[in-house]
Amino acid sequence: NESKGRTSMKKQIKGIAHRGYPSKYPENTLISFQAACDLNFSHLELDVQLSKDGVPVVIHDISVDRMTDNGIGQVKNLTLAELKELTIGGTERIPTFEEALDLLKDRIIVDIELKQMGDLYPGMEQLVLEMVKKKGMQEQVFITSFDHYCLQRVRQLDDKIGLGLINIGASPAFFPFAKEINCGYMSIEHQHITEPFIRRCEEEGIQLISWTVNQESDMKMVAQYPSLLICTNELELWAKVSGQN
Ligand code: G3P
Ligand code: CA
Repeated sequence: NESKGRTSMKKQIKGIAHRGYPSKYPENTLISFQAACDLNFSHLELDVQLSKDGVPVVIHDISVDRMTDNGIGQVKNLTLAELKELTIGGTERIPTFEEALDLLKDRIIVDIELKQMGDLYPGMEQLVLEMVKKKGMQEQVFITSFDHYCLQRVRQLDDKIGLGLINIGASPAFFPFAKEINCGYMSIEHQHITEPFIRRCEEEGIQLISWTVNQESDMKMVAQYPSLLICTNELELWAKVSGQN
């Protein structure tokens, strides 16, 4: 595969490919991840949940209803074998987290979002960390979540792995907790990001991520701030708007 690795002469595009390239391929599938790698994006975001038999799998929604052609029900109530019977867009399948890491290793920085909520997925943090270590990808990933207790548990299990707090709004109240768990990233819904918040992240040494920016006008705003890392579904549009194509 000529696109494997970082040997490509193609210029790297700074940005996070949100769920792969979902405006062209089904989100959170291997074909979608391959497309982001082929475009030479610097980062890729994916969503992780656990199957009924405790295998980390890559899918965004709590249920399989929206994404799969032939499935119904919650991810946590289906075994890996049952999940693998489902198709996405006719030919794709729900990837295991391991399959996704195998494809992405040495190609792109991975923002692993844990779709943890309270005790929905007991032991998920440890399972995900074990897989990252098995693949030797600790330096190539960071772990994010809306569930801040989940991030705290990840930090208790591993004192070095990159962490990112996901929030909708931008509040200075997040900074003490970010410091406490040594969190290097903060991911905020783009319309709530303010210039003072950008400056504060710069001062704190936190990489600020703006999600999920898909409109050209919003991309132009993001492009004004070199310290901001965009998260987008519209990979080629971002490459063009930011002058990285
Ligand atoms: O990483 C930020 C973003 O992915 C969070 O929202 O719903 O797309 O997972 P969602
Ligand atoms: Ca996500």
